[in-house]
Amino acid sequence: MGDLMFRDGLLKGKRILVTGGGTGLGEVMSEAYAQLGATVYICGRRAGVLDETAKRISGETGAKVKGIACDIRVAEAVDDMVAQIWADGGALTGLVNNAAGNFISRTKDLSPRGFNAIADIVFRGSFYVTLACGKRWIEGGNKGSVISILTTWVWNGGPFTVPSAMSKAGLNVMTKSLATEWGPHGIRLNAIAPGPFPTKGAWERLSPQSANRGESRSGIPMGRNGEMHELANLAVFLMGDGCDYLTGQTIAIDGALHLASGGNFAQLSQLGDADWEKIRNEVKSANEKDRAKRSV
Ligand code: HXC
Ligand code: NAP
Repeated sequence: MGDLMFRDGLLKGKRILVTGGGTGLGEVMSEAYAQLGATVYICGRRAGVLDETAKRISGETGAKVKGIACDIRVAEAVDDMVAQIWADGGALTGLVNNAAGNFISRTKDLSPRGFNAIADIVFRGSFYVTLACGKRWIEGGNKGSVISILTTWVWNGGPFTVPSAMSKAGLNVMTKSLATEWGPHGIRLNAIAPGPFPTKGAWERLSPQSANRGESRSGIPMGRNGEMHELANLAVFLMGDGCDYLTGQTIAIDGALHLASGGNFAQLSQLGDADWEKIRNEVKSANEKDRAKRSV
């Protein structure tokens, strides 16, 4: 992951749930929290992936890292998971809404089920987890900090990723709304809008071979993709006690990509029917491989 810019033990005593923490950016943030002394819970639908990640991070950091198989689309399963965490050592102090689903597709090719496959995870699922934690924090008089992982599309739209852009935009408004509603309870909500941080999950579905056939989607003023430790540093900063007055904010970390060139998939307008057919098949095979590993 690279070096963190914080002192050892900064997050000692913190108890943080990272949804989708078994892979990609969730794994990176979980590792950073554990490295700084927090107890970390990670959830996802693939128990094997969670176990492997939890074992690796706790082995390397000495922190308690626990994987819980949970499909955040199922409200009752989310409430059971959060109850289990509260029973395992008390209230959480932080939540990272990181789990998501996404794929590129022309919107006209989406079925209602295709739309819901994304919206049920991102829009509804993230709300269920936020609610399950928030109501317990309010009831117990505990402070809490929520970070939602969004995209810069919440500001300028996401052509060819419309269900994701709509769902993330909903979470952006949730962040602002609950910062006000739950502020009096000492609960903070912020969000991070990352630019391109290459992960297997995102790249297989958003940047498959056929989508890159044309013009490359560079145009990043900083001239490179994000590095994992940069995202981790921001996720630690927002979770730390030192910025208790910071709430309701969505911070982009994208090397100024969205300011310079949109940061979305506008350039895919050049693709034709045959290209989209190929992309769909590539995304499908990535989905099938991951689905075969699901345990819930
Ligand atoms: C059109 C598609 C499609 C595609 C699936 N569908 N793939 N439609 N184009 N490429 C449609 C199917 O046809 C079906 O509708 C419906 O979606 C459900 O498909 P399933 O395969 O049954 O879905 P499911 O098993 O629920 O899988 C959900 C998923 C999958 C979202 C499709 O990709 C997933 O689980 N992803 C989790 C990981 C992930 O996506 N990570 C990337 C996050 S990255 P019909 O009507 O045909 O039955 C991210 C990055 C943002 O967000 C920014 C980067 C710069
Ligand atoms: P990823 O590795 O595919 O992460 C997605 C995670 O969400 C997986 O661990 C997945 O695990 C979990 N998940 C999906 N559906 C779930 C469900 N129903 N219940 C529980 N967990 C579920 O991709 P990533 O790139 O790290 O993405 C992480 C976050 O960053 C996402 O919110 C994404 O939108 C955001 N983001 C990423 C980038 C980037 O460049 N990578 C840029 C902007 C924003 P299971 O499949 O095992 O459930």
